[in-house]
Amino acid sequence: MIDSVKVFAPASVANLACGFDVLGLALESPGDEIIARLNPTRIGLTISAITGDEGRLPWDIEFNTAGYAAHRFLEAIGQANLGIDLEIHKKMPFGSGLGSSAASAVGAVYAVGQLLGGEWSKKDLLPFAVLGEQQADGAYHADNVAPSLFGGIVLIRDNQTLDVLQLPVPGDLTVAVIHPQIEILTKEARSILSSSVPLRDMILQTGNMGSFLAGLYTNDYDRIHRSVMDVVIEPQRAKQIPHFYTVKSIAEKSGALGCSISGSGPSIFAFCRGPEHAEQLAQRMADVYSAHGIAVDVFSGSINHVGVQTIG
Ligand code: HSE
Repeated sequence: MIDSVKVFAPASVANLACGFDVLGLALESPGDEIIARLNPTRIGLTISAITGDEGRLPWDIEFNTAGYAAHRFLEAIGQANLGIDLEIHKKMPFGSGLGSSAASAVGAVYAVGQLLGGEWSKKDLLPFAVLGEQQADGAYHADNVAPSLFGGIVLIRDNQTLDVLQLPVPGDLTVAVIHPQIEILTKEARSILSSSVPLRDMILQTGNMGSFLAGLYTNDYDRIHRSVMDVVIEPQRAKQIPHFYTVKSIAEKSGALGCSISGSGPSIFAFCRGPEHAEQLAQRMADVYSAHGIAVDVFSGSINHVGVQTIG
């Protein structure tokens, strides 16, 4: 048996405008690095190192997203007493809307699964990673976890049963992502949402969602362009993100295939065609925040097709 595994778990963009809680994609970067190591001198799972978190993450496995997910998995396979050290190296911002807690949970369960022989499929690990996400934001949703685990664009038909499906990704589809450095916690961004949706909006949203999927299956970029729209969640959350509509209008004028809030925000994503368009647009979107003295990260680029993977 190997005694140490290091994995990379990618960041993700959830919702993709028309699919609140049911659509998400994985990004090439950023992502978290998690190391799981056998430690025969200890009993049970221990968090032995955390870096890049500015001292914010809990070290108690019951309160740490990664620790919680890995511990639930170890319990389920009857290995909760096995001495394992977990190192969490955060490489992405908190409260960014880029699936930071999901990446940590995914990285932890995958690293532990690989350490113990790798006999569990990613699908087997999914429920445990979602439990880690739930520990962080109080809701059981897989739209960040599933893309971080599997890669690509993922549909979650039902979050309770975790009926998930990887969707085809048209070859030219890229994504521009910016992260203005304002913190929005998912828990709070969920609490402001109205619990009812007007019938008219439900009709528009389901039409766009079905059409978006058809666009992915048929490589129809015009259809994707017409469908990446959110009439339900975006109007409620945009108020929390200064300059959101300025950024969106820049994306629309540049020919983006759609622009909306990434997950619960404040990150903003735009679908583009080709890496150059994504790179140039992300910079122009970021310039809006720089001009207002708000620090901003740029993560433009490709969609990650493999999801979490072993890197050492
Ligand atoms: N679907 C979730 C939400 C994703 O928007 O609240 C959180 O990143």
